Amino acid sequence: MMMLKKYLKQVLLRKFKHKNYMLMKRNFLFFWIISSLLVAQKYEDVIQPIWDEHCASCHTGNNYSGDLDLSSGSSYDNMVNVNSKGYQGYKIVKPGDSENSVLFQKIVGNIAFGNPMPPGGNKLSSSKEEKIKKWINDGALKEWGDLAIENEFGITPNLFGLAQNYPNPFNAVTSIQISLVKDSKITIKVYDFLGKEVNSLIINQSLQKGSHRFIWKGEDDNGYQLPSGVYLYRLEVNSMNGRELYQNTKKMIMLK
Ligand code: HEC
Repeated sequence: MMMLKKYLKQVLLRKFKHKNYMLMKRNFLFFWIISSLLVAQKYEDVIQPIWDEHCASCHTGNNYSGDLDLSSGSSYDNMVNVNSKGYQGYKIVKPGDSENSVLFQKIVGNIAFGNPMPPGGNKLSSSKEEKIKKWINDGALKEWGDLAIENEFGITPNLFGLAQNYPNPFNAVTSIQISLVKDSKITIKVYDFLGKEVNSLIINQSLQKGSHRFIWKGEDDNGYQLPSGVYLYRLEVNSMNGRELYQNTKKMIMLK
């Protein structure tokens, strides 16, 4: 009898180990596939070429031009979160706020900010202007993800939506944006890759229609930091009287 018990235990243990191994293997593969799909855009590839073409002829080294060096390799540290020389109290580029960034006001030609850039009527094309605006408003990062996922499903502002978290992958904090067609009650939960709930960000909270943003700090419900990996976040929208209106789940990656 003892022998049989021991034998069964061994078989079970082996099975369990094998299952765990297979699961790990699958997770790793999945993690790898997702990571390779989410290619971040780089400041150097998207924004720097605009400076090279239109600005660096004047803004190089410590020339005149407000000491603003926009040549490759120097531009980022010379403008992001740097005080403007010409306009007291303003940053040249203020992350997340194109309206209060001297650089942006100058490229759109707002006369309150002096000469437009580039000077002499050579305004940047509107697509370049848009790129710069989006980059600043996305946080003026060296690498940033694509925010346009909401349009992936043809969602217009008159539909419910759950946007891809931003930034993604993320290191410290990430934001999750949702859009609501009508006043509703929402729940947002975060799950680990095995589907175990790790954080209930918002529980049945009443919100007005429109768009809302939530921050997740990569912590569990008790404020403990969670490990790197793939996480899922799920939005559930119910009407004020409890009828299901919308649900969606998306993946995000935390890289510590
Ligand atoms: C023909 C030369 C020239 C070109 C090209 C040029 N700039 Fe300038 N820029 C200047 C001069 C001169 C100043 C300082 C006087 C002023 O603020 O108008 C200046 C000032 C600035 C400032 C203000 C800096 C501060 O500290 O307040 C910003 C921002 C700026 N330029 C951005 C750009 C950008 C972006 C481009 C390209 C899209 C560009 N400039 C192209 C000559 C130029």
